[in-house]
Amino acid sequence: MTDNRLVDRFGRSINYLRISVTDRCDLRCVYCMSEHMTFLPREQLLTLEEIDRIAATFIELGVDRIRITGGEPLVRRNVLELFRDLGRHQGLRDLTLTTNGSQLERFADDLSAAGVTRVNISLDTLRADRFKAITRIGDLDKTLRGIDAAIDAGFDRVKINSVILRGHNHDEVLDLVDFAVERGIDISFIEEMPLGDNGDHRAGDVHYSSHRIREDLAGRYRLIASAERTGGPARYYSVEGHPATRIGFISPHSHNFCDDCNRVRLTSEGLLLLCLGQEHSVDLRHVLRAHPGDDARLRQAIIDAMQIKPKGHEFDLDSHTVLLRHMNMTGG
Ligand code: GTP
Ligand code: 5AD
Ligand code: SF4
Repeated sequence: MTDNRLVDRFGRSINYLRISVTDRCDLRCVYCMSEHMTFLPREQLLTLEEIDRIAATFIELGVDRIRITGGEPLVRRNVLELFRDLGRHQGLRDLTLTTNGSQLERFADDLSAAGVTRVNISLDTLRADRFKAITRIGDLDKTLRGIDAAIDAGFDRVKINSVILRGHNHDEVLDLVDFAVERGIDISFIEEMPLGDNGDHRAGDVHYSSHRIREDLAGRYRLIASAERTGGPARYYSVEGHPATRIGFISPHSHNFCDDCNRVRLTSEGLLLLCLGQEHSVDLRHVLRAHPGDDARLRQAIIDAMQIKPKGHEFDLDSHTVLLRHMNMTGG
């Protein structure tokens, strides 16, 4: 029996852990990284066993949803073993993955067999030249084959994530929805968040609001606002005549979703981050390695960490300051 003991100073219950298993990636998306990145030395990473142990402790404390992210999680060596271990935890009701899709052709069936319930795949454009420009090195066909493999693998849901940037891909929102509708999958449109200097643009200069996207879609699709809330940042709409597709909007600049935040994040080096948009953190790798086998201490460190969860992010489009951390440290 789990009892949810993770409650923060603002009365928010934490039942969702997002785990970044690597900061590495086989792409270099312009909103996520700079072109030349230095990645963490491997010995600084949590081992897969350490990640599972931390996850198990969170599950004991009432967490029942875990999302694996990166970097690109599927480039971490032996990562399937972690999925298999996580999939065995009784208390877990949702085991999900956020990926760029490049490796899914190879992994989709095994992930589904391991117990992964939902997969989110990044896809910002359907044009090969733009895909190359946005990801700096990617191959659109490989990602599209990965999406097909995910659809065939029988996950409960597959969702496309599209970060929309003015002047890069804002003219493709209708095509992206067509793509999702044709395949009977979901899609979320994401406003860019200013994390780390990406060496490409400032978020304020390319901002394209969720509101504008909804206006762009209105000519072809009737969107019906849904009351569904996941504790996550997305506001969902259903699409008249297309029941298999839901459209989400993640709008950090135009809508504050922090009041009912239910999540914390574990970075690949074992920092527990209490908010995506703030620096507050606790070093769980240190707790693990300084006190091997001491489950009670790890549990208490996690419970105590809730006291420093901040009220919310403070992303500011007009400010020149960005968080030092790039998105690949947290996987979003
Ligand atoms: P769920 O797990 O179903 O809530 O999916 P999701 O759509 O939130 O997850 P995904 O990993 O696909 O992330 C989509 C976008 O949401 C990314 O750009 C994330 O950075 C962003 N996001 C997720 N959680 C948070 C959050 O707590 N705060 C902020 N600011 N953004 C978030
Ligand atoms: N702002 C918003 N979303 C981002 N992502 C990566 N970097 C950013 C950013 N700066 C998205 C990716 C992926 C998800 C995990 O986060 O496209 O879908
Ligand atoms: Fe890799 Fe995802 Fe970052 Fe793109 S957004 S560089 S796919 S981690």
